[in-house]
Amino acid sequence: MKNKQKAITIWITGLSASGKSTLAKSIKKVLSSNRINTVVLDGDHLRKTVNKDLSFSIEDRKENNRRIAEIARIMNDEGINVICALISPTNEIRNIATEIIGQDNLVLTYVNTSIEICESRDQKYLYKKAKQGNISNFTGISSVYEVPKFPDITLNGENSLLENLNEVTTFLNLKYQFNL
Ligand code: ADX
Repeated sequence: MKNKQKAITIWITGLSASGKSTLAKSIKKVLSSNRINTVVLDGDHLRKTVNKDLSFSIEDRKENNRRIAEIARIMNDEGINVICALISPTNEIRNIATEIIGQDNLVLTYVNTSIEICESRDQKYLYKKAKQGNISNFTGISSVYEVPKFPDITLNGENSLLENLNEVTTFLNLKYQFNL
């Protein structure tokens, strides 16, 4: 991808502990090593900073995602590619992000990892705490996760990171002529 070409946002959705952040970091590594300017916006991180006023109600999740989409849009307009790693649990929330960023510039990437696998990988024991009733509105337990209807890319969370990374780079090469 040449510098003058329009930048894009790779919007990664999936359950907590599905592998979104790891994938985001790996994609960034590949893009950066190809001299493609890229920033990662991670829900876990932004909720401690820009969005620390927000809860996990659906309304606040909507606002969390909206703000991050607006930041991504500003960066895209400046030629910076963005990778967002957010649960973004509903079709409505993802549609808002798509409207803000623009359909042509957003690559909706669904990390399809079963809740059992997420739970087994969950180093923070959030699923366990949610099941015990110690965390409310927890995605997949006491709050909804709608599987995306028309993702651009669906990744199997049980595949290796390298396999999933290859799927993403192949898509970027085909659709946006990245030369990865
Ligand atoms: S989103 O729904 O608003 O898109 P986001 O990706 O920013 O969520 O944040 C999800 C992260 O917050 C999870 O990976 C987890 O570490 C943490 N978290 C804390 N409470 C909850 C909850 N009730 N539901 C989901 N994730 C939670």
